[in-house]
Amino acid sequence: MAAIFSKTSDLILKVAGAVIGLGAVSGIAAFAYLSYPTVIDTGYQPKQPVAYSHKLHAGELGLNCYYCHSTVYKAAFAAVPGTEVCMGCHSQVRQASPRLEVVRQSYASGSPIHWVKVHDVPDYVFFNHQAHINAGVSCVTCHGRVDQMEEVKQVKPLNMAWCIDCHRNPAPNIRPADKVTQLDWVPDRPAEEIGREIIAQKHIDPPTNCSGCHR
Ligand code: HEC
Ligand code: HEC
Ligand code: HEC
Ligand code: HEC
Ligand code: HEC
Repeated sequence: MAAIFSKTSDLILKVAGAVIGLGAVSGIAAFAYLSYPTVIDTGYQPKQPVAYSHKLHAGELGLNCYYCHSTVYKAAFAAVPGTEVCMGCHSQVRQASPRLEVVRQSYASGSPIHWVKVHDVPDYVFFNHQAHINAGVSCVTCHGRVDQMEEVKQVKPLNMAWCIDCHRNPAPNIRPADKVTQLDWVPDRPAEEIGREIIAQKHIDPPTNCSGCHR
């Protein structure tokens, strides 16, 4: 525990130092140095306590992402659903399946299922789902085709260079808000053109200054 703590505080100090030191310098040099790709955990796919499949539930059954991740457009955090959401169906569907034993136990005892977090940015980084969802950035842009995954896997680096690349030029990744959870959506004209219109309409302007993401 102590080791984790000091590592975290070390990084916080590093960021704080860098932000104070370079905050005024909006130079390319600062970015070139700092956006050196420290690719973190691409391909990370931890084993989950229940063999829950997005491919089945979000893909084949066609459940919308908001059905289970309902906080995603109104909060920073994209909550993972509570056991009662699963039991809404599984008290009738496959209610005796051994693959649902952990779910039934959690429901009976009231203690939550311990899902393993897949995507995780360091604590010194400010990230907010709501801002991205409302601007029209789709889940697929940052998480890939989750609706085709048996087990969720991290497909994007989630590092600083990746965040800033989009913040500098978001247009190709902005779509109408009602298409955000439609992962297979194909625009009927150039995506960038649609993006530019929405950006103008909603005055979208992602932060590229240090304090935008390090508060
Ligand atoms: C029936 C409920 C349900 C639906 C519908 C659903 N999810 Fe999930 N989602 C879960 C559960 C449970 C977990 C935690 C277990 C896991 O990671 O597989 C999860 C985890 C995730 C994660 C990984 C979170 C982390 O730990 O980093 C992402 C990303 C995700 N879902 C995206 C989506 C997207 C995108 C959709 C719509 C296409 C969707 N989900 C639809 C239940 C659901
Ligand atoms: C809207 C209804 C619905 C919800 C909500 C739902 N499921 Fe399912 N689930 C199904 C259906 C339908 C099947 C497929 C049954 C079949 O194959 O006959 C299934 C299958 C499964 C299976 C495979 C069972 C087996 O015996 O192979 C698991 C595990 C599972 N779900 C876990 C979950 C978890 C965990 C949640 C909550 C995060 C959840 N489900 C939420 C409808 C739902
Ligand atoms: C701009 C990129 C981006 C978009 C768009 C996005 N996510 Fe995420 N998501 C992330 C990042 C980054 C994390 C890790 C956040 C952290 O560690 O604080 C994450 C984490 C999650 C988690 C784990 C819980 C959490 O909040 O840490 C879930 C579940 C999730 N996302 C679901 C979704 C769903 C569903 C959508 C679409 C409706 C979506 N995300 C859209 C980047 C994105
Ligand atoms: C694919 C494009 C894209 C990616 C990738 C992306 N963002 Fe954004 N970000 C946006 C857009 C668009 C907005 C909305 C700006 C607005 O509404 O003015 C935004 C807004 C934000 C905001 C402002 C939120 C607020 O409430 O003020 C923060 C902070 C942020 N992003 C952090 C991050 C971080 C950290 C990452 C990487 C982990 C990231 N973003 C990745 C496009 C992206
Ligand atoms: C759009 C969001 C965003 C902006 C803007 C941003 N950062 Fe970051 N920064 C991140 C993310 C995400 C990480 C963690 C992942 C990584 O290390 O790449 C990070 C990590 C860092 C780290 C730790 C790197 C390491 O390897 O230990 C430092 C230092 C840092 N940022 C300084 C800055 C400075 C200085 C600026 C302004 C020039 C800045 N950041 C602007 C998102 C951002």
